[in-house]
Amino acid sequence: MAKIKTIYACSECGGQTLKWQGQCPHCSAWNTLSETVAEKAVSSRYQSLAQSSQLTHLKEVDTNEEPRLLTEIGELDRVLGGGLVRGAVVLIGGDPGIGKSTLLLQALTRMSERCKVVYVSGEESAQQIALRARRLQVQSDRLGLLAEIQLEHIFNVLKREKPDVAVIDSIQTVYSELLQSAPGSVAQVRECASQLTRFAKSSHCSLLLVGHVTKEGAIAGPRVLEHMVDAVLYFEGDTHSSFRLVRAIKNRFGAVNELGVFAMTDRGLRGVSNPSALFLSRHDGEVAGSCVMVTQEGSRPLLVELQALVDSSHSPNPRRLSVGLEQNRLAMLLAVLHRHAGIAVFDQDVFVNAVGGVKIDEPAADLPVLLAIASSLKGNPLPGKMVAFGEVGLVGEVRPVQRGMERLKEAAKIGFQLAIVPRANAPKVPIEGLKVIAVDRVGQAIECVR
Ligand code: TYD
Ligand code: MG
Repeated sequence: MAKIKTIYACSECGGQTLKWQGQCPHCSAWNTLSETVAEKAVSSRYQSLAQSSQLTHLKEVDTNEEPRLLTEIGELDRVLGGGLVRGAVVLIGGDPGIGKSTLLLQALTRMSERCKVVYVSGEESAQQIALRARRLQVQSDRLGLLAEIQLEHIFNVLKREKPDVAVIDSIQTVYSELLQSAPGSVAQVRECASQLTRFAKSSHCSLLLVGHVTKEGAIAGPRVLEHMVDAVLYFEGDTHSSFRLVRAIKNRFGAVNELGVFAMTDRGLRGVSNPSALFLSRHDGEVAGSCVMVTQEGSRPLLVELQALVDSSHSPNPRRLSVGLEQNRLAMLLAVLHRHAGIAVFDQDVFVNAVGGVKIDEPAADLPVLLAIASSLKGNPLPGKMVAFGEVGLVGEVRPVQRGMERLKEAAKIGFQLAIVPRANAPKVPIEGLKVIAVDRVGQAIECVR
């Protein structure tokens, strides 16, 4: 028997080396090489995606867009940019148990009324899926189920059935017999995803791929997976709370950072069409260290409570911990707070948290984070019914954020009465019921809530 040769494959770029190294020689990423079986070249690998090798001109290409397939789950259609595009491949990632399979089963049963759908599961048996469907109280006699993990068998069924939409749950369980490595390995995931993508483009079948995530929250397997597909959606949210967010981080057919909000109920995921006040915790009185911000996620403003705790540290390296906000940005903001507002926290542990498991990556959170930190340090609650937003720069200036007016209107609608905003975001005409304080510098903002 021939000896199996092992090589080391990079999970970022898919590059290979013969011996283990700390750094990938192809893309220079650190600690990304893992041992796998050396694969012989697959002959079908280099077929083109578009199945056409004729030179054409932009003008001649048929651009009549086929109508999108609606999943009829409003929040999911919104994240997809208005429904599924035919032949598109969508990757859906998220923590185990967050509701990926549930959402897709709900979407497929609805779509099965209007088009042909197939649910391929490598994780659950047909019986388990049927039980789940019963629990969700969705019924469909036209939903095709297939419990299979071998890619070639899956293709046989898909080519025979010619569905309009197929779900592969999950890409990490699928394996191709052309490769020797185990399912879930970098080579298998990459090969299966590229074959599935080719299939989707040539057959106009829309594919929804479920992807596992690693401990760090990235989709397991090679990074190239995200480049291959047309859209990448992530499930976020605290598995302990019932709210789930679905965020598009890449979408070739719609806006990115669009957000779908769901609530997990005993009958599956329900869309929340008016989520703006979901991520506010209700305090009986005013508490120190809490500041509400308005973040603009896709086309909707969302109010999120940011909390900070500042506590004297007993370690030579005080802790800076952030949940839902960027860690490095916190360190930068603390330096700005010291230099430009005279508030020192070098001997304090600082923790900040965005309530409800939301992840905020826009810089509009800077000002509310600083206000919450200053409030916690002094033990002074911020005024009740107050919101803030604004980007903070290294020289202590408060920079405007986009769509300030929409944010302010949303805050007023929910009943907030005071807003601290960058000067350029101050409204030209007053908003009823909302007092707006425009600031230019961090120091000013902190001064006016003192
Ligand atoms: P699931 O879709 O299996 O998660 P994933 O495929 O992302 O791993 O979700 C399972 C979780 O959802 C499980 O913890 C129970 C919960 N759940 C409900 O609360 N209500 C329901 O109706 C269903 C079907 C699941
Ligand atoms: Mg699942």
